[in-house]
Amino acid sequence: MKLHPIIAPSILSANFAKLGEEVDSVIAGGADWIHFDVMDNHYVPNLTIGPMVCAALKAHGVTSPIDVHLMVKPVDRLINEFAVAGADIITFHPEASEHIDRNLQQIRDAGCKAGLVLNPATPLTHLTHVMDKLDVVLLMSVNPGFGGQSFIRSTLDKIKNLRELIDNSEYEIRLEVDGGVKLENIAEIANAGADTFVAGSAIFSQPDYMEIIEKLRAAINKHN
Ligand code: DX5
Ligand code: ZN
Repeated sequence: MKLHPIIAPSILSANFAKLGEEVDSVIAGGADWIHFDVMDNHYVPNLTIGPMVCAALKAHGVTSPIDVHLMVKPVDRLINEFAVAGADIITFHPEASEHIDRNLQQIRDAGCKAGLVLNPATPLTHLTHVMDKLDVVLLMSVNPGFGGQSFIRSTLDKIKNLRELIDNSEYEIRLEVDGGVKLENIAEIANAGADTFVAGSAIFSQPDYMEIIEKLRAAINKHN
């Protein structure tokens, strides 16, 4: 069963000099979650934001769920720090963890929703033995590290396979897609079986966040 669609703007493409305002604007424009990309210049070749920024957004008054995408290695310490900082969802890459099952449990024990992130070449078999510990699976449709890259089209088949895997399981797991999601391809991505859509440059490059979020949602709904 496909869950109701969620649009999660990635603040990686926001203007960091006025981050609070940017987040307020996308939420006012209809964003469901705020996608928060954490990069460490080790697991991925870029350096972004940490728990202090997450806590600052919460203190600023952000009540929408914060979807923390960890692109860091190791993940153990930052899971707890982000939970304390107010994260609602925490996902990590299996390649960045020595103990995947333990880290998923750690996220839930900290009171957050837990998920794994699979890179374009990382197989779905990583999910097999932890389905009961997943609230979300995030499929990367670009190689992680930067915003503004092009959607890798082989992800569409992977989305279909994951949709089947989730539907044949007894679990309610969100299927989230991240990277190169645009107005031109979001319907196709929804049609393949995604229910949660991260979009960075597609939203923050536009002058009117409400208008683009409405258009994205309309494109998703047309194919649902
Ligand atoms: C890439 C990040 C994405 C990124 C998406 O490593 O995980 O969340 O911000 O940006 P766009 O939507 O511009 O591809
Ligand atoms: Zn991301």
